[in-house]
Amino acid sequence: MNLHGNTIFMTGGTSGIGLGLALRLRDRGNRVIISGRRQHLLDQLAARHDGIETVVLDVQDPESIRSVVDSVTREHPDLNVVITMAGIMQPENLLDPGHLAIAEATVATNLLGPIRTLTPLIPFLARQEQAAIITVSSGLAFVPLPATPTYDATKAAMHSYTESLRVQLADTSIQVIELVPPAVRTTLNGQQDSERAMPLEDFLSETMRLLQEQPDAKEILVDRVKPLRFATRDGHYDQLLTAMSTRTS
Ligand SMILES: NC(=O)c1ccc[n+]([C@@H]2O[C@H](COP(=O)([O-])OP(=O)(O)OC[C@H]3O[C@@H](n4cnc5c(N)ncnc54)[C@H](OP(=O)(O)O)[C@@H]3O)[C@@H](O)[C@H]2O)c1
Repeated sequence: MNLHGNTIFMTGGTSGIGLGLALRLRDRGNRVIISGRRQHLLDQLAARHDGIETVVLDVQDPESIRSVVDSVTREHPDLNVVITMAGIMQPENLLDPGHLAIAEATVATNLLGPIRTLTPLIPFLARQEQAAIITVSSGLAFVPLPATPTYDATKAAMHSYTESLRVQLADTSIQVIELVPPAVRTTLNGQQDSERAMPLEDFLSETMRLLQEQPDAKEILVDRVKPLRFATRDGHYDQLLTAMSTRTS
């Protein structure tokens, strides 16, 4: 992927990895449109950050996705990069039937959200000379954190979906890239101060370096995520799953 001169639409992007990446991409000479559920927060971000555009979006709501895709593609006919960043992560106790509401919201946001967003955008992007889709999975797609079962399952599903997407789009102008973060210090799952999680700015710097150095990358893998990503290949899966079984983040 070329790292400048793009028009980029990101689901999510009001905080954490999304906002950080949006600002780094803006600094490289891209137009970036971020989104999220909270109008007041989007207004604050647009006022604070020159060159960042915003639109209200709830990826749990198919009508919201339809109307935002319509307006973004109408206002930005040169849109050529889409990043499906929006995600939620919440613990679930599977012995408590009350967990079902969390499971359903997690699937709607993390799995149906990207699928519903990409469905109308794929034919649009395929008409651009150069385009890219960046999906966001997680190291937990490869070894689950049992405290957050549906989250991990949605990320494993996004990994698989992205693999198929790349194959089906191989003869188009669209490059398909999977961003696979390790635990990063954001408010997701309350891990902003976790010593186990990677500092956000370090993650963003390594991610931008990899995007620059590996323009044809299928997956963006910072060093910290490699033990999880390659656990099965390297024979560490059982050991890592045991270690993850006592953790909450
Ligand atoms: N941090 C980590 O350790 C880690 C590790 C692996 C993968 N990831 C993935 O990285 C992505 C970003 O996470 P983060 O750590 O940066 O967390 P974050 O700071 O909580 O950001 C989550 C973003 O998703 C948006 N969002 C959530 N639900 C949404 C909805 N229904 N509609 C639209 N936007 C919605 C939020 O916007 P609003 O709240 O403003 O709507 C926010 O911009 C997620 O996909 C996450 O799974 C994170």
